This record gives sequence, structure tokens and C-alpha cells, in this order.
Amino acid sequence: KALYKIASIPGDGIGTEVIPVGQRAADAAAAKHGFSIEWTEFDWSCERYAETGRMMPEDGVETMKAFDAIYLGAVGWPGVPDHVSLWGLLIPLRRELDLYANVRPVRLLKGVSSPLAGRGPEDIDFIVVRENVEGEYSEIGGRIYSGTEQEMVSQQAVFTRRGTDRIMDYAFRLAQNRKRKHVTSATKSNGIVHTMPFWDERFAEVSKKYPEVETAQFHIDILTAHFVQHPDWFDVVVGSNLFGDILSDLGPAVAGSIGIAPAANINPEGVYPSMFEPVHGSAPDIAGQGIANPVAAVWTAAMMLDHLGEKDAAQTLETAMEAVLSDPASRTKDLGGTANTKVCGAAILKHIER
Ligand code: NAD
Ligand code: IPM
Ligand code: MN
Repeated sequence: KALYKIASIPGDGIGTEVIPVGQRAADAAAAKHGFSIEWTEFDWSCERYAETGRMMPEDGVETMKAFDAIYLGAVGWPGVPDHVSLWGLLIPLRRELDLYANVRPVRLLKGVSSPLAGRGPEDIDFIVVRENVEGEYSEIGGRIYSGTEQEMVSQQAVFTRRGTDRIMDYAFRLAQNRKRKHVTSATKSNGIVHTMPFWDERFAEVSKKYPEVETAQFHIDILTAHFVQHPDWFDVVVGSNLFGDILSDLGPAVAGSIGIAPAANINPEGVYPSMFEPVHGSAPDIAGQGIANPVAAVWTAAMMLDHLGEKDAAQTLETAMEAVLSDPASRTKDLGGTANTKVCGAAILKHIER
């Protein structure tokens, strides 16, 4: 009987409210499909930072390498500057484990209504593939002459041929296995942003390896408009770190709520464990009230089980969450329902266990 060792890092805010729901759901799916999960919890968070001066121990990333996967809630809390919490935990995990493919599916689930008039589940079903370790999120630059009239900040965007090609390859391979076989590139290639003509060159070059996959490309500005007006145009959308970040909040918004959006930070070569975290953050505005939507965490757990090879268990989780979303009494407030985290989580669990 398979046993998976998974590190859980609930993190901050609603991370600590939704991760336990996802764990219980994953355990229930595991029991149903004949495998088990050994969870090891890590208290890495802003609270830990306040006590110890570090988001995680010095050998934190090294510790993660012993696990089959990492299940993370959210990082960031008022009082600790975001650059401290993020560069102290989330970003090093993504980079040092070379989790270069951030895979963020967007689907209008049955029972959820889109803010876009007249759109149904058949219209919104795409995946944002976001480059996750380089691009605009670079460490080159910073602030100088702080507090003086000469004060300035800069940050160098870094696009390597290896990094660009491998994220595009990932997007094309994903598209090859989908019905539509279509990849859209998010760009800004009018030459104002120097990195983007290079991105386009690599997209054209990499696409030659996948003649059966259709392609399109749009400048990021009009692409955001197309997400709203023509979500049905998209199948796989590949973007740089920043463009992919923006598109992966916009996508879930047109599909109902950021509260359901899942994400997988993948190391496709399998050298390091991949990390699974909802797209949303710690939501300080609703944290502690027990009203956060746990569906993103459950869908994220489904992506994790799928990645571990437990396809049937992943399907069980997806079926359960979709069934539950059809009932307003088990949907949370962000989706126009009346349930809180506990009620929604219990409904999902009940559906899995039946
Ligand atoms: P956020 O995603 O935390 O919240 C944005 C809005 O969406 C808020 O109004 C929130 O209440 C709502 N929301 C988010 N998740 C929800 C859920 N599950 N159910 C219901 N409503 C939900 O983004 P933010 O406010 O920009 O960031 C807050 C903090 O989280 C910051 O410190 C930020 O750096 C951090 N953050 C972390 C991650 C991560 O760890 N992956 C991702 C995004 C933001
Ligand atoms: C996300 C988040 C992070 C990102 C932040 C918190 C650094 O917005 O996971 O989408 O931009 O990658
Ligand atoms: Mn984001």
C-alpha cells in the first residue's frame, strides 16, 4: 500500500483555516482509494518570524527535499513586510527547489456563476502556465540613496534561454494532452519592453517542435480584455512570472472566485518535491472569522494527488467539491452561499466518504 510523505505548511491567515480542510479531504480520498498520507506539519509563518526572526530555519529548503510533496497555505501577514516574509519562505522554496512551472487551472465549475453574463462551464476551461523562478521577479537591483533626493529603485528582468524554453515546452506538452491543443503566449512584444521580443522568438522556435499544437499570442494589455470578453478562446496560456501572476488572479475572477483557484508549483524533472498552494493569499481582511472558502485548498490537494499518480483519488476530490458547489447552503459567501469554512468542508468530506 502506497504511503506518501507530505510536508504541510499552513502559513499565515486563512492558510491555517483552509489547509486542515484540504488535508482531511485528501486523507478521506486516500482511505477510499487504498493509500495513505503521512503529514508532517511545519509552523513556518509570520508568527514564527515574530518569535525567532526567521520565517523558516536556515536548513528549511533542505528539510523539504525529504518529502514527496509540499502542501502550503499562504505566506504574508500585516506587521511583517511582505518582502521579508516572501523572500524568507515562499520564493526560496520556489527557486531552490526549481519549481519553475506554476500551473494554475481556471474552470467555471458546475453550480458556480461567472460574473460574465451568459457564460457557462463550456466557455471557461483553460490553464495558466506561469514561469515561476525568473523573469520580472529577479534579485538584481534594489534601492539606493534611500531617503535622499537621489533615491532610486530598479529591478532587472531576467529571461534566460533555458528558463524561457523550458516553461514553453511545459505549456506545449500540456496542450498536447488536451482536447483543443492550443497555446496562447502572453507578451508585450512591441519592443518597448526589451525582454519580450526575445520571449516571442523563443515561443516561435519552441512551437516548431509541436506542429499539432495551434498557437496565438497577444500583448498582455489586450489579453486581459480578452480573458473577460472571450474566455472561450483560451486553452493553455503561457506567461512570464509577472504576467502569469496577473492572469492567474483574473482568470479565477471570471470563473467565480479567487477562493476556488488552485495552483501547483512543479519541478517537472522530479528532482525535487513539487509544492501545491492555492492561488489566494492569507486574506487578512477575513482571517479568523472562519468564512474562507476551502475549495481552492481542496482543488489544490487534488492537483497534488494527481501529481503523485493517484488520479482516481484526485477525481474523487474534484467530483466532491463540484457537487458541493451546486448547493448554496454549502457554498461560502464569496460564491453567494451561506456556508462558512466548516460547513463547506464538512459537505465536501461527506461527499467523499459516501
Ligand atoms: P489575498 O488573496 O489574500 O486576498 C484578496 C481578496 O480575496 C481578499 O478580499 C480576500 O478576503 C479574498 N479571498 C482570498 N482568498 C479567499 C478565500 N479562500 N475565500 C474567500 N475570500 C478569499 O490577496 P492580498 O490581499 O493581495 O494579499 C494578502 C497577503 O497574502 C499579503 O501578505 C500577500 O503578500 C500574501 N499572498 C500570499 C500568497 C501565497 O502565499 N501564495 C498569494 C497571494 C498573496
Ligand atoms: C502568488 C502570489 C505571490 C506571487 C506573491 C505573494 C509573491 O501573488 O502566488 O500568486 O506573486 O507569486
Ligand atoms: Mn498572485
